[in-house]
Order: sequence, then structure tokens, then C-alpha cells
Amino acid sequence: MLGVAGRTAFGFAATTLAAVALFRAHTRRFFRLTTELKRTHRRAMQLERERDQAQQELWPRLCEERELHQQKIQFQAQLSEYEKYAALAQLALGAAHEINNPLLGILSHLELELKASTDPEQGLEIEQCIAGAKRISATLRGLVNYARPGPLMLSRINLHRLVADTLGYLEGQPLLRGKQVENQVPPDLPPIRADANQLSQVLMNLLLNAAEATVAGGKIAIAADRLTLVDSIEIRVTDTGCGIAPDVLPHVFEPFFTTKRGKGTGLGMSISQAYVRSHNGEIRVDSVVDRGTTVTLTLPIRQVNADSNETEENEVVV
Ligand SMILES: Nc1ncnc2c1ncn2[C@@H]1O[C@H](COP(=O)(O)OP(=O)(O)O)[C@@H](O)[C@H]1O
Ligand SMILES: [Mg+2]
Repeated sequence: MLGVAGRTAFGFAATTLAAVALFRAHTRRFFRLTTELKRTHRRAMQLERERDQAQQELWPRLCEERELHQQKIQFQAQLSEYEKYAALAQLALGAAHEINNPLLGILSHLELELKASTDPEQGLEIEQCIAGAKRISATLRGLVNYARPGPLMLSRINLHRLVADTLGYLEGQPLLRGKQVENQVPPDLPPIRADANQLSQVLMNLLLNAAEATVAGGKIAIAADRLTLVDSIEIRVTDTGCGIAPDVLPHVFEPFFTTKRGKGTGLGMSISQAYVRSHNGEIRVDSVVDRGTTVTLTLPIRQVNADSNETEENEVVV
């Protein structure tokens, strides 16, 4: 039989065992909770990292999207501009055809009259009529060129020689008298593949504009460089003329826009732009009033997939 001491000892042992069991259970629970806490912490850290990464990826995407949106607006504006010009071009082609035929009849009739005329005063009047009719005809030709540039006749062009030849046409013209004109195109520039006739017309238009804007004593120069990164050639026609006012500048490529009332056709720049674009190139104007103007053409050295009639591979045409 257990005495009081035995019962007490038994009770103590039982209590101790119960306490130990409880302690173990708590300890196990504690470790389980700690492990779970660590796992949750790791998961939270991973989620945070993922969030940071997503944020990092999101920002450039947002910028990209904003840029795309701006590009879309630009393209839409360009498209509506092209549509406007396409409609204008169709109209111009129709009108040019309708006007040109009777005009040629009038011209040949006037020339016959001039030959037959013996009165000098009447002769002068007829000559003025002929000059007017020729001017209309030249404007119409310009219009047709603008509306429907012919297919590109590509050839390898030595730019230095093309510029020299174009300047040669203008030599002795009263418009260039007293003005310094320089061909600064390096003779060893790599040849470019382009339509020599169209390119020469563009240079001629730009040179005429430069000459018209420059007074005697002024300077006109054509320079060119190779842009190796984009495999293009940059041609700059620079003058020290009157410059273009900021409110005029955005309009210079519009067909028929001219500030030379009664003298200009307003087609030189728009035709030049059409020709440059048909070469997949770009044309830009920078100008400072009373300082001068620089027109910059950027033309690819090669023409990829051009819808064109090409001349011999190694032929250098000027
Ligand atoms: N180099 C230049 N210096 C000053 N103004 C220029 C120059 N080039 C072009 N312009 C301006 O652009 C307008 C349009 O030029 P263009 O299309 O060649 O037509 P046009 O010469 O018949 O007026 C000109 O009337 C002129 O106001
Ligand atoms: Mg002009």
C-alpha cells in the first residue's frame, strides 16, 4: 500500500510527465510554426522580387506603349496628308491633261504668228504671250512630275560629278552672278544608286531657291558625307541668303506654296520631296532668318526592292 509520501511522489511524477508531454507538444508546435513562418517569409520575399521584376518590366512597356501611341498619331496625320495629296495629284493630272492639249495648239499658233509678223510691237506682244504660255506649260509639267514621278532609272552615280554637271548647267545664269558657288562634295565619296535625272532636278531646284534667296556677295555650297551607320549619303545645299521665317517653314513642301508672288510656281520643293521619297530618302530644311538656309537630303546608298528600270551594274552615269 502506498503511503502519503508514495502518493505524493506518484502525483508529482504524473504531473511532471504531463508537463513534459505538454512541453514537447508545444515545442513541436513552436518548431512547426517557426518553419511555416520561415516558409511564408521566403514566399513573401519571392513575391516581392516578382513584383519588383514585374514593375521593372512594366515601365519600359508603358514607355513603349506611349511611344507607339505617338507614332500611331503621327502615321495617321501622315496618312491623311498623303490622302490629301493623292486626291490633289489626281485632280492635277486631269486638269494638266485638259489644259496642256489646247495650250500646245495655242503655242504653235502663236509661233506661226510670230514668224509671219512684220510689226515689231506686235512681235513683242506675241513673244510675251509665248513666254506666258510656256510658263503655264512648265508649271503643268512640274505638276505632272509631282503627281506621277516616273519609274526610277537607277544607276551608280558619282555625286561629285553629278553636282559639277548640274552647276555647269547654271553657269553664266544671271541669277548666280556675283555669288560664290562651291561644289564641296568629296570626289572619292562612294557612288550611290539613284535616278541621275531626278537627283539632278532636285539639286537644280534647291540651287535655284538658294540663288533666289541670296544677294550678290553671298555663298551657296553643296556638301556631302557618308553616314556609315545607316548606309546613306547626306547631301546639304547651304546658302547665306534671306532664310525662311518660322511661320513659313512648315509650308515649304506644300504644292503651290510660294512666297515669290507672280514669279514662283511653288512646286520646286514639293517635287523635290516627291523625288527624294521615291528613293526612300528624306529631305529636311533648317533655316535662320537673315542668316541662311540648309536643305539636307538623306539618300540610301543602295536601293532595295526599288520598282525601277536599272542600268548596268557597274556603270557610272552622270
Ligand atoms: N533656300 C531658300 N531660302 C529661302 N526661302 C526658301 C528657300 N528654299 C525654299 N524657300 C521657300 O520655300 C518656298 C517654296 O519653294 P519652291 O517649292 O521651290 O517654290 P518657288 O521657288 O516657286 O516659290 C519659296 O517660295 C520660299 O519661300
Ligand atoms: Mg523654287
